[in-house]
Amino acid sequence: MTQVGQSGERAIVFGASGGIGAALVNLLAGRAEVFAASRTQPESLPDGVQWVHFDFDEEATIAAAVKTVGGPLDQVIVASGALTLQDGSGPERSFKQVERAAMTRIFHLNTIGPALIAKHFLPLLPRDRRSVFAALSARVGSISDNGIGGWHSYRASKAALNMLVRNYAIELGRTHKHAVCVALHPGTVDTALSQPFQSNLPEGQLTAPAEAAGNLLRVIDGLTPEDSGHLFDWAGERVEF
Ligand SMILES: NC(=O)c1ccc[n+]([C@@H]2O[C@H](COP(=O)([O-])OP(=O)(O)OC[C@H]3O[C@@H](n4cnc5c(N)ncnc54)[C@H](OP(=O)(O)O)[C@@H]3O)[C@@H](O)[C@H]2O)c1
Repeated sequence: MTQVGQSGERAIVFGASGGIGAALVNLLAGRAEVFAASRTQPESLPDGVQWVHFDFDEEATIAAAVKTVGGPLDQVIVASGALTLQDGSGPERSFKQVERAAMTRIFHLNTIGPALIAKHFLPLLPRDRRSVFAALSARVGSISDNGIGGWHSYRASKAALNMLVRNYAIELGRTHKHAVCVALHPGTVDTALSQPFQSNLPEGQLTAPAEAAGNLLRVIDGLTPEDSGHLFDWAGERVEF
């Protein structure tokens, strides 16, 4: 049996096996009925949290997750994604390093995957009250903020995700007046994703996953439908696309 949290909210976190996703599940579990969705089953989950399997490589698993969750969801958070691929290929520093297969895979994980989650899960947002669809993007996916270049596939996949978030916010706004659809930048967070790139970080710039999750939930809690379609950072500041 899943636990019904104090607020009566129902939430699902995709990427619950990841650094930020797991921390989001831990925090949300104290206040909501939570579904933890991931490809790999987490070693442990807070009491009452129900694990849901999904894999971006099989859309049917996302459709099946809808059936497991059943009723309406107040929060759908997509905390999956990749910067380095499982074969070890990392982000490109030059256009000369772009490889079709690696770029395709990064777009599959960071752009198309969240789009498929939206396809299957946006219909579960209630029409009569506030609800949130939040996808973890990245500040480096902002075109206007890009001053140093590099990481071509990752940046482009997040920029494309930002565009989808804007599109979905517009579409959702027509039927769900209270819905919020946003992209979020979590800061630089101490997870497997950032681990290979942490050595040159300025002192104090690396955030622990639990702190990052707290920041993100604070931002989500403060958003209104007027914020829909935008990218916000961990402090709640809007980042221009
Ligand atoms: N960490 C940072 O500094 C940082 C900064 C900016 C933005 N972000 C964004 O925040 C999000 C979470 O990042 P993180 O740092 O928590 O990364 P992480 O610890 O590496 O977690 C990545 C998650 O993505 C999942 N995933 C990968 N391939 C998948 C697939 N085929 N199907 C389903 N799930 C799959 C992983 O599942 P498995 O466990 O099964 O592999 C894992 O749950 C990402 O979108 C990332 O781009 C992170």
